[in-house]
Amino acid sequence: MVRAMAEAIVQVEHLRKEFNGTVAVADVSFQVRRGEIVGLLGANGAGKTTTIQVLLGLTTPTSGLVKIFGMDFERHRIAILQRSNFCSAYTALPGNLKVWENLLVFAKLYQVKDHRRKTDELLELLEITPLRKHITGHLSSGESTRVNLCKALLNDPELLLLDEPTASLDPNIADKVRKLLRRVQRERGITMIYTSHNMRDVEEVCDRVLFLNKGRVVAEGTPRQIIDQFQQQSLEDVFIQVARSGDLLAEEGK
Ligand SMILES: Nc1ncnc2c1ncn2[C@@H]1O[C@H](COP(=O)(O)OP(=O)(O)O)[C@@H](O)[C@H]1O
Ligand SMILES: [Mg+2]
Repeated sequence: MVRAMAEAIVQVEHLRKEFNGTVAVADVSFQVRRGEIVGLLGANGAGKTTTIQVLLGLTTPTSGLVKIFGMDFERHRIAILQRSNFCSAYTALPGNLKVWENLLVFAKLYQVKDHRRKTDELLELLEITPLRKHITGHLSSGESTRVNLCKALLNDPELLLLDEPTASLDPNIADKVRKLLRRVQRERGITMIYTSHNMRDVEEVCDRVLFLNKGRVVAEGTPRQIIDQFQQQSLEDVFIQVARSGDLLAEEGK
């Protein structure tokens, strides 16, 4: 299969991150290949956001190796970040600006060529053209998620990091966002790492998932493989099993 041989876009080896003695990520290793959407799952506090923040250079690892696009993160940080972007349910764009003003600020920041055309194209893609002149702070959560995604696509990222992008969305909008992400992945071949607590999200969007528990990977595979491996009926059942018995698995790995 050609897909299986695609190049590794993200390589994480023995990543560890401590915050003043609190171990957020104990020992995490994984790879993400070009064009894959990989889900990071796990209970609150499992280390998902910290892992994403390391990949964004927002926090420095205590130890371990991170390579993105085949380049060492420490040494090629700027080059890597220019080819990446992110979207999180928990980081809002400045609320007092209009949608188009926010997008203009980011387009300038990313030095997007022909930014008017680019912005218009993305507003169309995300079906939010009518929101152009709206005040960002007055948008509903579904609208602001899509504006955030629009921002995240402005620099044509090859790697998109999504931290709970569908949190706080109603099922209808969440469904639209899922379909949209798949479409963007299909049409633009963007590699994505995706965290979510919504197993429906994950089954629909992700090619492969990694289950984290207490800062360690306790399962890895396609949603189907993981369901079979844990002899459960659904990914949600696996999630519950991992959250409740993952302590034991983590103990073994210490
Ligand atoms: N800046 C920080 N300072 C101290 N502890 C932190 C910090 N960020 C995260 N942690 C701790 O690290 C652990 C993992 O957090 P996080 O990566 O946010 O998990 P998740 O996103 O899976 O819910 C948690 O116990 C959290 O309290
Ligand atoms: Mg988190």
